[in-house]
Amino acid sequence: NVLKLLLERYFHIYYRIILDYEKGGQQRTKSIDLLDLTPECDVNEVLSEIRRVEPLITASRAEQVKILIQRLQDKLSKPDNRKFYLFKALQAHILPLTNVAFNKSGSSFITGSYDRTCKIWDTASGEELQTLEGHRNVVYAIAFNNPYGDKIATGSFDKTCRLWSTETGKCFHTFRGHTAEIVCLAFNPQSTLVATGSMDTTAKLWDVESGEEVYTLVVSISIFLPTVQSICFTLSVDYSPPFVPPLPSIFYSPTAVVHTLIGHRGEISSVNFNWDSSLIVTASMDKTCKVWDADGGQCLATLIGHDDEVLDVCFNYTGQLIATASADGTSRVFNAQTHECVCKLEGHEGEISKVCFNPQGTCVLTASADKTARVWSVSSGSCLQVLEGHTDEIFSCAFNYEGDTIITGSKDNTCRIWR
Ligand SMILES: *[C@@H]1O[C@H](CO)[C@@H](O)[C@H](O)[C@H]1NC(C)=O
Ligand SMILES: *[C@@H]1O[C@H](CO)[C@@H](O)[C@H](O)[C@H]1NC(C)=O
Repeated sequence: NVLKLLLERYFHIYYRIILDYEKGGQQRTKSIDLLDLTPECDVNEVLSEIRRVEPLITASRAEQVKILIQRLQDKLSKPDNRKFYLFKALQAHILPLTNVAFNKSGSSFITGSYDRTCKIWDTASGEELQTLEGHRNVVYAIAFNNPYGDKIATGSFDKTCRLWSTETGKCFHTFRGHTAEIVCLAFNPQSTLVATGSMDTTAKLWDVESGEEVYTLVVSISIFLPTVQSICFTLSVDYSPPFVPPLPSIFYSPTAVVHTLIGHRGEISSVNFNWDSSLIVTASMDKTCKVWDADGGQCLATLIGHDDEVLDVCFNYTGQLIATASADGTSRVFNAQTHECVCKLEGHEGEISKVCFNPQGTCVLTASADKTARVWSVSSGSCLQVLEGHTDEIFSCAFNYEGDTIITGSKDNTCRIWR
């Protein structure tokens, strides 16, 4: 049987080796997580540990796995003191940008805009490769079907989601059925499904090939929007027919969600799962974040310290750290286990709307209304760099898979590439 081995360093937040194989004519996927891997680990010990639990890794395939592990160790050991310089400023759209996303290699990226289009860009030349036109309202949520990158999904305030060819810009399907704005979407790792989340409080799953709707999850009206986003993500990652909702138990009953996640005294602005979906972190307008046990739904801790609304929150890729972004102009990094504040990132002169870790976990990137994005050291909490040049608020920012390129998208209608 065919066994394809892929190394996924941090695609969808996992450090893992993916095993793609066929059994009884069916395509299957298994994965091996390597969360504890460090450059110092003995590769042969790691390999024999993997082989002990995974019969698919036969002697003939062991060498291939060893190479994957070594590649990951190489990446982990590279010193990271890079500086980012403005590489290109692109007059990307005629109206503000909503979101930006890289393809897996980082050699191209997409931008969504209030101007109703999504554009595909070549990172190295800054050249516009395609304009995806057809939506009748703001293009809000955008995604490549990474790791493949040959398709793009766009979700719009026009209530539809469209699926496009990256190469030709042709629209394969328009997914219709939502009755309100689409605000988030995700492909499953096999790229056979797209999940969309809408203000109509449903999440829907669509078949990429046929263009048919395959599942609708109706979410209670009282569920907050970012939860739809997390559901979208979880659905798209774990869906396999026949359908069993693969969601943490708190999502089975919408009312349970309301009761379970009650605790914040303000609207929730952002929700994030850790890598194995065992923990959830929520950010709230009540100036706090809360960490929840995803299975039982108990609140494990309240992260305090911000003086104003918390607007974004995320785990680092292995789930040990949590970074927050606040309207008070600071970000904080918390230990996800002890819930202590590890460092406070101070310097922005306006609210911070977006925060993310670099895939290596050494830096935090923040995007602010002060027209700058900043890169911070996780270990010292000091600001390593101020990315200046945008002439209006920055709404979105992203690192590529290698962590050596940043894109920022702004209300000034431009996006900037930093490398
Ligand atoms: C990323 O985009 C570039 C340019 O379109 C393309 O050549 C490359 O194959 C893509 N890579 C992935 C992994 O999608
Ligand atoms: C996440 O944070 C922990 C604790 O600082 C660190 O050991 C780990 O390397 C980080 N992982 C990633 C991928 O960011």
